[in-house]
Amino acid sequence: MKRILLDTDPGVDDALAFLLAFASPEIKVEAVTTVDGNVDVEKGTRNARQLLEFLGRDDVPVARGASHPMLRPMGNAESFHGKMGLMDVVLLEPRMKVDKRAAAQLIIDEVNRLGKELTLVAIGPLTNLAAAILTDPTIPEKVGGLVIMGGAFSLTPYGSGNANAVAEFNIWHDPDAAKLVFDSGIPMVCAGLDTTMHPDYRMNKAMYAEMVVKKGKRSELIKGLCGVLVERYNGFSLHDPMAMAYVADPTMFKTEKYKVEVETTGTHTIGMTVVDRRRYHREENLKANHEVIVEVDAPRFHKMISDRVGKGG
Ligand code: RIB
Ligand code: CA
Repeated sequence: MKRILLDTDPGVDDALAFLLAFASPEIKVEAVTTVDGNVDVEKGTRNARQLLEFLGRDDVPVARGASHPMLRPMGNAESFHGKMGLMDVVLLEPRMKVDKRAAAQLIIDEVNRLGKELTLVAIGPLTNLAAAILTDPTIPEKVGGLVIMGGAFSLTPYGSGNANAVAEFNIWHDPDAAKLVFDSGIPMVCAGLDTTMHPDYRMNKAMYAEMVVKKGKRSELIKGLCGVLVERYNGFSLHDPMAMAYVADPTMFKTEKYKVEVETTGTHTIGMTVVDRRRYHREENLKANHEVIVEVDAPRFHKMISDRVGKGG
């Protein structure tokens, strides 16, 4: 059983990652923390509570996190996810309370409670993780590990940027926090655009149609989340679900080790996750604590998404 804390900026694909997490017998969601990213943290916190109540899991604590990046304001992604962050979905007004602690404190408390048992899963900007590590620098050595959706590593033809020419949104939105987390020594696995944008691994229209064919509230939710986007983008990139799928079954993925540097000053490259593949850099890469997903077993990944996101397991 993988006990996780999910840090998220819900977000349409974050919502699919929620559906996957709670339909995966390998995963136990211990807590959720929200962060400014796709939409502001107030909307994200509301969306997280609505999703937990939709799933009948209002027992899972939700703590509100950072309302802006560490050092500089960066744009949101409402243009993609919709003004409220969950496209056209209308869910019941959340009734569950927000945990009194700040997200960083909940992260610290869960790491101290569960130690190596706990895996941190971050599918939004890394502001909360950075705040937690700044407050308790022993987190990287105490926790079991960190799995993120984040980065664009130029390791496949699809590993270029979506927030600028070379940077992935979660890293770009708070590059300073990302640098702090990548440099902290925490063991990390990254699901980056190199694979989430790969046409073989995206959700195509046929897969989407099959996922919503069954009548019911789950299909209605997925239709409200993804329907317009699948039409607009000829399918849907499963960014956050890929990170969650790695947690559920890492054997579906091939990873490679690299020392990743985060660009925090470049005019055109801010937020870039730089990988140095020069031959004489090989030793440093092999010693690094950053793993990047470079290949996916597409049939198994798609079956997991279809069965667990689409049908609930
Ligand atoms: O670049 C994709 C990532 O940015 C996903 O986590 C999506 O939800 C947005 O946060
Ligand atoms: Ca996200």
